[in-house]
Order: sequence, then structure tokens, then C-alpha cells
Amino acid sequence: MDPKLEERARELRTLLQKASIAYYVHDAPILEDSVYDRLYRELQELERAYPELVTPDSPTQRVGEKPAEHFPTVFHRIPLYSLENAFNPEELEEWQERLLRVLGRAPVPDGGTEGELEYVCELKIDGAALALTYIEGLLERGATRGDGQAGEDITPNVRAIRSIPLRLATADPPPVLEVRGEVYLALAEFERINRERCSAGDPPFANPRNCAAGTLRQLDSRVVAARKLSFFAYALHWPEGWPAGDPPQTQWQCLQQLKELGFPVNPLSQVCRGLGEVIQFYERWRGAQLPYASDGVVVKLNSLRLQEEAGFTQKFPRWAIALKYPAQEVPTRIRAILASVGRTGAVTPVAELEPVPLAGTLVSRASLHNADRLRELDVHIGDTAIVRKAGEIIPEVVGILKELRPADAVPYSLPSQCPECHAPLVRPPGEAVTRCPNPECPAKLR
Ligand code: IVH
Repeated sequence: MDPKLEERARELRTLLQKASIAYYVHDAPILEDSVYDRLYRELQELERAYPELVTPDSPTQRVGEKPAEHFPTVFHRIPLYSLENAFNPEELEEWQERLLRVLGRAPVPDGGTEGELEYVCELKIDGAALALTYIEGLLERGATRGDGQAGEDITPNVRAIRSIPLRLATADPPPVLEVRGEVYLALAEFERINRERCSAGDPPFANPRNCAAGTLRQLDSRVVAARKLSFFAYALHWPEGWPAGDPPQTQWQCLQQLKELGFPVNPLSQVCRGLGEVIQFYERWRGAQLPYASDGVVVKLNSLRLQEEAGFTQKFPRWAIALKYPAQEVPTRIRAILASVGRTGAVTPVAELEPVPLAGTLVSRASLHNADRLRELDVHIGDTAIVRKAGEIIPEVVGILKELRPADAVPYSLPSQCPECHAPLVRPPGEAVTRCPNPECPAKLR
């Protein structure tokens, strides 16, 4: 092997990695796309001619040729907790009171920020949690959250996400490093994917979160590469003794460290002293038009020492909470109503809507729940419905604007026969749910 070629391959890898970090982490490209593509091709050709030059962190090694057969289960070395929710500032204050009690601190005085706790506020990105493991600086594994204890090893797909570094940007990597963050889809990319699905006759994804989570679990990593997933890192677990010098002592320093290691970190994060500043941050971003879906603000104690003191409940860290944005409501027209039969045989009326943007996603279907709700709302096809998204995957119709009912609107009630197998539907007395009783119904077997 000509050492000059080896040297060239190394230089190309290093430059392409640097260019990716400049692009994805710092939003400050250092290479034109066409220049990047040309250099990438050169590396690819070198590697094709001399396969011994290929390294696992080469940017050419992101997407494999062979689809995976399944995703093995992996146990997380450090469990992934979820967050307690607060739905308004009062609930946030109650959380802080509990936190202060656990920390053995006096209630925070009114006025001023003296003696107030310091928090980091981060946007709560509505995507899918991802746990990354780096061994000696190389990406070893990417796993879904699963139940928090064990998830699925989706490494081939994680490698296909361009903004996730295959190698940490440090000359002194620790033996093991765990990074956590959120995989998400930019809204523009989500809409592009749904447009493509509609023209291919495939059902659209309900929202960017579903689309991101579904994409992560695709067996073919080429599909993952074609849907441009993004990533924001928000947590870092490092072994004792690393980094040499001074390890991070605050969440804010963790975010800076993550950036230095080459991870994209949401630039809107902010240190806030006291809940007054936290609520200002929340008001600032609630309802803002962002290029991705966010469903609230995550509030974290900044000091890692205090985080440790506060600890965890059975389910949640006591040192962090999600302050959720309130559900939003919008009006839109009902084009049709379908009776959808679920796995349990439950029949749910679902409204097909004129697509409408709602809390960051394009909504085209909404649940009408059951026969009682249909009657209560007096729903007609052609009506203008008020649709709300309250954290559920499928939004719901919460009202009808009867003043806007057109003359040709058609009343709707659930069919008497199963739309799938034509068995007569039943509704046991005292129950809200209408069901298909046929155990062989294809909807149940699906
Ligand atoms: S911190 C122990 N920070 O929200 C702390 N989570 O139920 C755990 N999420 O599953 C999470 N943005 O996937 C954190 N800036 C952020 C986040 C965030 C989104 C997700 C995460 C988690 C869920 C909380």
C-alpha cells in the first residue's frame, strides 16, 4: 500500500468529518456541497480500489447494502428515564416546592433572583429518544429507549443519520461514553415524505414523531438515509477520570461538551435563574414557528451535584420536569367519516379532514371516539369541526361550528354492520364502545 494513498484517505476522512460538524453542529458550512460531494467521491473511489483503506468511521460507511433481519434487544447500561409533566406554571411551582424540600432548602423568597435555583431550559423536541454508546471514540451502538431498561439495537440506522458523529471529535476519547438525545424530523422533511407517500398511495404518517420513530425502526437503512432524520443531543454520561482537567459540573457545561465532541445541540437552550425566568423562556417559545415540532420546555436543575442530591423517584428524575404547551385547537372541514375497526374489534368513527396545521404538524384525520360522542356533537359530513391535539397521536374533534353547516351536509351515524366483515355490530348495555363480535374479522386478525 502506497503510504501516500493511506495519507490521502486519512486526510479526506478528517476533512469530511470536520465539514459535517461545521454543517450540522455549528450551522456554518466550510465546504460548498459540490466540493463536499467531489471529495466524498474521491474517498469512495480510493476505498473501492483499496478496500483495506476502509475504516468504520469513514463517511462512506454510513449506509449498509444489506437490510437488517431484526433488531436485537439491548439492555441500557444506564436506564433512560422519562419526565414528569407539568401542564401549567402552577404545577411547575409545586414541582419546585417538592424539589426544595428534598434538597432541604427554604422556600424561594418572592422578588429578585437571589437564592433562586439555577435551571437549564431546553425545548422538548417531539421525536424519539436515542441512546448512543461510543467505545474508544467510535460509535459502537445506537439503541431506542424501549421501556427505559431495554431497547432495540438500531445501530445500522443510526449510522445513516448524517449529523450523528461516527467518531467523537476529540484526541482523548474515554473508553466508554453514553450520549442521549432526540431524533426528529424537520417539518419540511416530514411534509416531503408524506407528499411522496400520498403520491405512492401509501397512508401518510400522522405526525413527525411517528414518522421519526417509524423510520428508526426500518429494517433497510437505505430508507433511513433517504428520510433525512435530525438529532439533538441533550445528555452525556462519562466515566470517572474523563475528561482530563475539569469534567462538566453543570448541565450547561454538558451541552457545551457535547458540542465540542461533535454533536448538534439545540441552540435555543438557556440558563435560567428561578422559575420567573423559566416561565419567560416558556412564554417566549410557546406557539413560536420552529422548523421542527416541540411540545414543551424541559426544565433541568443546572448543577449536577444538586441533581445527584435530588435523585430519582420510581419513574422520573426529581431534578427535571417537562412543562408542556397547552393543546391547540383549530377549525377545519370534515370531508368524510370512516368507521375504523381496531385489533380488539372496537369500532371508532374517524373524521377525514381538510389537512390543517396544528401544533407543528399537518393534521388530516381526527377521532370522533364513539357513537355517544357522534350524537352529542351531532356531526354531519361537510361540517366545520374544531380539532384539538392533546398529546395523543390521533387528534380529536372537540366541537362542531353548526353556524357554518352547509345546506348539503349529511348526518352520520355508525353503521349497523362491520365495515370489514359485515357482521352485525354490537354494543353491550352500559358500554360506550361498539364492537364487531366476529372472532374471524380480518380487522382483528390484521
Ligand atoms: S431529558 C432524565 N431533554 O422527552 C432526563 N428529554 O418524557 C430524561 N425529550 O423520553 C430526558 N427533548 O425523549 C430531555 N431536551 C430534552 C428533551 C427530552 C425531548 C424527550 C425524551 C424523553 C421524553 C420525556
